[in-house]
Amino acid sequence: MKYELNKAQIPTHVAIIMDGNGRWATQRGLPRTAGHVEGVANVKHITEVCSNLGVKYLTLYTFSTENWNRPQDEVMAIMNLLVDNMDLSLFMDNNVRFRMIGGVERLPEKVQEVVLDFEEKTAGNTGMTAVVALNYSSRWEITETMKQAVKQAAEGQLKPEDITESYICSHLQTHFMPDPDLLIRTGGELRISNYLLWQCAYSEFYFCDTYWPDFHEEELYQAIATYQQRQRRFGLTEAQVENANKTEN
Ligand code: IPE
Ligand code: IPE
Ligand code: MG
Repeated sequence: MKYELNKAQIPTHVAIIMDGNGRWATQRGLPRTAGHVEGVANVKHITEVCSNLGVKYLTLYTFSTENWNRPQDEVMAIMNLLVDNMDLSLFMDNNVRFRMIGGVERLPEKVQEVVLDFEEKTAGNTGMTAVVALNYSSRWEITETMKQAVKQAAEGQLKPEDITESYICSHLQTHFMPDPDLLIRTGGELRISNYLLWQCAYSEFYFCDTYWPDFHEEELYQAIATYQQRQRRFGLTEAQVENANKTEN
């Protein structure tokens, strides 16, 4: 089935919780790591599709702070995949800027090197920004922001009235991009697992059962088509939003 998308209403920021790699593999009698290999292949595919659609920011939940507690061989396999299977040409060929959010210090040195290298080499790219959330969790991010604020306050550089929503936004890991318009979670679970809690205050959610390695172009189109049918009200009434749209057009 083909989904007709309104090109004028492509979400600026699409966030994805890429879940279901392990179950995809188990279902096929393969080790979980085979699912992660397919998962990385699909990251490449979906990055290209989003870039071609005109999405400006794509944030991919790749490894959470809680994922360190998985069996160590799985953790190591994921880290090695990040080093071996990430592809600079994907970003260069598509004019995509690469960035990471999360705590870089805890990542193995080789992963840190790849991340820094890609961030540097793609810094001049002017198309979509692809953001990989690695060793990331929202509670960690908010905790770090609070620490920073208290430090500034102790040094006499911050007063209670300086703490505004925009102060907080500008100190989060995501300071360089707008909030997600659309959050997609694959893999059938109906939760956000510590992802972008602050930033998703008014995001539209799309949950699907498809495991991440099988989430291809058509289903992304379906997610965006569903998003385009929603009315985002941000606390207003339906009539208010309709009137505002009329005056805009
Ligand atoms: C998502 O897939 C990838 C990571 C969390 C690293 P999972 O590995 O969580 O796959 P399932 O949910 O166990 O199927
Ligand atoms: C969320 O998936 C994290 C990533 C996709 C990187 P999990 O598989 O870790 O989430 P839970 O444990 O099912 O909530
Ligand atoms: Mg999972």
